[in-house]
Amino acid sequence: MDWLHENYPASSERFGPGLLDHLDLLKAFLRFLLLLALFMSIAASAPRKVIIDTDPGTDDAIAIMLALHSPELDVRALTVVPGNVTLAQGMDNALRMLSLANRCGIPVAAGAQHPLFQKLTTAELFHGQNGLGNVELPPSKCQADPRWAPDLIIQMVHANPHEITLVPVGPLTNIALALEKDPSIVPLVKEVVLMGGSISGGNVSGAAEANIHNDPEAAQIVFQAGWPLTMVGLDVGNQTLLTRRHIAALAKNRGPISDFIYQVADFRIAFSEKHASPGAPMYDPLAVGVAIDSTLVQAPAMHVDVETRGEFTRGETVANRRGSNELNTLQHFPDGDRYVIEGFEKLSLNVKVCTAVDAEKFLQMLVTRLEGK
Ligand code: BDR
Ligand code: CA
Repeated sequence: MDWLHENYPASSERFGPGLLDHLDLLKAFLRFLLLLALFMSIAASAPRKVIIDTDPGTDDAIAIMLALHSPELDVRALTVVPGNVTLAQGMDNALRMLSLANRCGIPVAAGAQHPLFQKLTTAELFHGQNGLGNVELPPSKCQADPRWAPDLIIQMVHANPHEITLVPVGPLTNIALALEKDPSIVPLVKEVVLMGGSISGGNVSGAAEANIHNDPEAAQIVFQAGWPLTMVGLDVGNQTLLTRRHIAALAKNRGPISDFIYQVADFRIAFSEKHASPGAPMYDPLAVGVAIDSTLVQAPAMHVDVETRGEFTRGETVANRRGSNELNTLQHFPDGDRYVIEGFEKLSLNVKVCTAVDAEKFLQMLVTRLEGK
């Protein structure tokens, strides 16, 4: 027996066996709590796996570069959808950007050729002839993934159950096609954080936002799928104006990525200035920002449907803030048939709608992550 044990009797001798049992139990419990806290902090700090579905696109380009330079995110794939530009141009842009960032390990897969039920509308007016603000990137060293984008999404979700966050920043055609082909992905997706929609007026029409307007049927499928969905729409995107003051930091602290983002942003800001706005709205980058840090926005849950038929409202995201609709039934009366209000039908709160944003905090985050890169 060593000195300590000789001079300091075991706790059972000092306190009796009952108390010892309690102390041991307490110690075991504390050890368990410590391990649990450690496990939870490791899980919370592990980067979030994201698939970005994109129609690149100037603001898509900034969004992709932000994601690639954010330690909170692990970009597992870029899937390309036609929207701002054609599918072929979008693929070329995505591949050139990953090549510039030296990230050829990230798969880039081509999806749909056109929206589900209508002709494609492209937006070279806002994004330049090549979609990247006419900024010419060197040819890509990266190769396209041979998989069809909806198949890639399905495979990755099954291979990483409850871990993949989908970040669609273009029309929702690819995501809808993945859902139609394999609805079993719904409970396996961690969440969807998308750029699209508006509950305060559109940018294509008085009612509709571009990504939703470019494929309303696909959007309605995605909105009603039953998975956790956050809508980062024009309501908040219009407040995140990137100005010359913001991009000055990119010009000072240069690198290939910073230079590229500076030129793309310069193109967008010049366009905005011509239309009497001091800055370019960072629509798609904000969706990535919300995937990084959801505290940037306030996002109350609402019921949202996508209007697919309205003459003036096709593509509008219609939000019900009350959580219910009137329930009317057709009844027969001697003086004719009419509807009578019976009460209310409850609606599911299927979308968290971003209604407020800390725009300056987000813009600072964007610039500091992209300067000197
Ligand atoms: C959305 O439409 C596209 O032009 C942008 O890339 C963004 O995704 C904004 O309405
Ligand atoms: Ca986009």
